[in-house]
Amino acid sequence: MQMVDKKIEEYCISKSTLPSNDCDRIETYTRANVHGAGMLIGKMEASLIGFLLRSIGAKRILELGTFTGYSALAMAENIPDDGEVITVDINQTTGALAQGFWNQSSQGHKIKSLIGNGLEIIPTLSGRFDFVFIDADKRNYIDYLKLTIPLLSPQGIIVIDNVLWDGKVLPDVELDLSEHRDRNTEFIRLVNDTIAQNENLYGTLLPIRDGMFLIKKLA
Ligand SMILES: C[S@@+](CC[C@H](N)C(=O)[O-])C[C@H]1O[C@@H](n2cnc3c(N)ncnc32)[C@H](O)[C@@H]1O
Repeated sequence: MQMVDKKIEEYCISKSTLPSNDCDRIETYTRANVHGAGMLIGKMEASLIGFLLRSIGAKRILELGTFTGYSALAMAENIPDDGEVITVDINQTTGALAQGFWNQSSQGHKIKSLIGNGLEIIPTLSGRFDFVFIDADKRNYIDYLKLTIPLLSPQGIIVIDNVLWDGKVLPDVELDLSEHRDRNTEFIRLVNDTIAQNENLYGTLLPIRDGMFLIKKLA
């Protein structure tokens, strides 16, 4: 489901501050060579995340779901030189590909890649994060949220990707639970409902790309 008219989106992209050519190279390579390239956040989302990072002066970022390294690099480009992006992915092959792209980029030195299951890695991390980007397996979204809320710095923000799941989260959409993609809808509905009902969180769900949930802890 196209959330925003294609021409409107293209116009917005043409007027926005966008990720660098280093990110473009990752996007082009991934679209041509890697299965699942549709998972890339793309330019519009990257631009908004960059805006958020700069607005809060983020220095320390945790990403769940590295894939080929596009979003990690786009985030690294919007934090200071002594900032850090810790990015986690279970897939060693795409992790190695990402590392190769970062090594050739001007901002990739800020990125630290951890290979493994997000649920196992998060409890091993120390310190606070100014920004958490949740973009890994949907089944564990709710646990990623619960595990990362306590890790937020006072100005910290969590962004969760794909929360509209191609429009399937709407209550009147019937799901085919024999389909993997449809089963994931239930996990995303759960996370969206949990945020909406939590009085200690300020949440804004934006219809950008496949849906982005912006979350902040209330004091
Ligand atoms: C949507 S992609 C991430 C896209 C990336 N953020 C970007 O825009 O460039 C999701 C990634 O989550 C990873 N993943 C799946 N299950 C995981 C798990 N249990 N722990 C960590 N990563 C996982 C997949 O290997 C995949 O690379």
